[in-house]
Amino acid sequence: MLQITRTLTSHPKQKPEGKLGFGKIFTDHMFIMDYSEEKGWHDARIVPYGEISLSPACMVFHYGQEMFEGMKAYRAPDGRILLFRPDKNIERMNNTNTRMCIPHVDPADALQAICEIVKTDADWIPTEPGTSLYIRPFIIATDPFLGVHPSKTYKFIIILSPSGSYYAAGLAPVKICVEDEYVRAVKGGTGFAKVGGNYAASLIGQENAEKKGYAQVLWLDGIEHRYVDEVGAMNVFFVIGDKVVTPKLEGNILPGVTRDSVILYLRAKGYDVEERRITIDEVYEAGRTGELKEMFGTGTAAVISPVGLLDWHGRKLEINNNEIGPISHMLYEGITGIQFGNAADGFGWTYEIK
Ligand code: COI
Repeated sequence: MLQITRTLTSHPKQKPEGKLGFGKIFTDHMFIMDYSEEKGWHDARIVPYGEISLSPACMVFHYGQEMFEGMKAYRAPDGRILLFRPDKNIERMNNTNTRMCIPHVDPADALQAICEIVKTDADWIPTEPGTSLYIRPFIIATDPFLGVHPSKTYKFIIILSPSGSYYAAGLAPVKICVEDEYVRAVKGGTGFAKVGGNYAASLIGQENAEKKGYAQVLWLDGIEHRYVDEVGAMNVFFVIGDKVVTPKLEGNILPGVTRDSVILYLRAKGYDVEERRITIDEVYEAGRTGELKEMFGTGTAAVISPVGLLDWHGRKLEINNNEIGPISHMLYEGITGIQFGNAADGFGWTYEIK
């Protein structure tokens, strides 16, 4: 059990009013804990949200040794505060840590830290439909050292951000550009890990796509540029005929918690879900024959995001008349129903913060 010291702010901020975007507003407090070889993880503390002072030589600035997670706290109609499958995020956090040579955090300590910081800023959990408190735990390498080695010291920090939908258009279908010049990840790299480097490498494709009016990029595999990987901020699913197909986890895509939940949810409802390789040609061919019924992305931030249009070298493929399809809609209602405590949770996914 962590001993967490608390210093509460003497200047609470004004809570946001009106439409919340994503990730722009931060609460009054943050959690910090330090790591050293001698002491392990120590000095767990909740302090006022604010700037942190670091040496410019810190290894995170030079070699990117860091990791992050993304989770949400939801306010149920009866007032309970719910997390969604926090054990999965914490398990993935330590898988990322292994890949990045970052020391593991005891899963019980990580969960306690998340619960304590959310409880401290519980009055920041928004209650408008579709809004939640986004939780961003992250670890940075703090040794002031320019040699390329794993750091010996780290900071584990959790910040909180009251957020609405990730995409400006909310649940409306997004337009996605298929990227086949740049690649996001390859097997053996860090594609399966939640590290900033994956996202940094994706920015140029993202920027080019945005200039052309697209919300995001669909990444193809890094070797043959044929197989669908993911969309950076979300995993992807296709409804082809009577099957739901999603790229299988082979080390280059993120093992999304929402992805896993969607697969389990659909299978429990009797859908045939295939986790397999899928080529971009197959997607376009299914679009041509009319077998492609829906496409959607899944993610903690993105939840369920229907895709209405793909553009691959200027070849435009409209999906389901650019409308929200029935499976996307059912999943959005079903998964958010469980997350927000509006629907019975037959899976044991919700975790109440007490
Ligand atoms: C999340 O869905 O929580 C993520 O971390 C994706 C991020 C790029 C917003």
